[in-house]
Amino acid sequence: MNDQEQTIGRHRTSGAPIGGADEFDAVDLEAEDSAGKPLIPTDSHVRLSRENSDEKILRRGYSFTDGMDQKRGQLDTGLFFVCFQRDPRNQFVPLQRRLAEKDALNEYISHRQRPLRLSTRSPREWLCRRNPLREHLKPVTGQRQV
Ligand code: HEM
Repeated sequence: MNDQEQTIGRHRTSGAPIGGADEFDAVDLEAEDSAGKPLIPTDSHVRLSRENSDEKILRRGYSFTDGMDQKRGQLDTGLFFVCFQRDPRNQFVPLQRRLAEKDALNEYISHRQRPLRLSTRSPREWLCRRNPLREHLKPVTGQRQV
């Protein structure tokens, strides 16, 4: 299995969790290989994002690629990340802290900006009507909401 799949905890072509066949298969964090090693690695993004069911968030990612950044000599590419929850102190913050500490993905990414808004509107309304990115970006297809 390649390094990218181990880092995320999902199969690259199908999007299925490691050990599964379909993108929307349940993620089995207990599954082990024949040697008793966890199938979904302990430092994978998917495992660390799901480890605590009290930290559930409703999220949507918008991936973007804006060509070469001439200054850095690197691709200007990334993921706009929007998520909703009742209380970020009990959901996003501990989740993000765990990812910052252990996520294998950290070797490849860096995080920028963290605006936090209090909204009385539903996530559906916000994403459909009020999202300033709506005109420019397409949601990642098959995005799961966790
Ligand atoms: C550049 C930063 C990030 C990248 C590239 C990234 C990438 C991914 C990918 C590829 C998946 C699996 C496919 C999917 O469900 O869409 C995923 C799932 C997930 N990510 Fe991230 N992510 C990033 C940041 C974050 C952050 C900041 C959080 C929360 C603090 C987060 C929370 C989650 C959750 C909850 C899942 C669902 C796990 C699952 O598949 O069951 N991610 N992310």
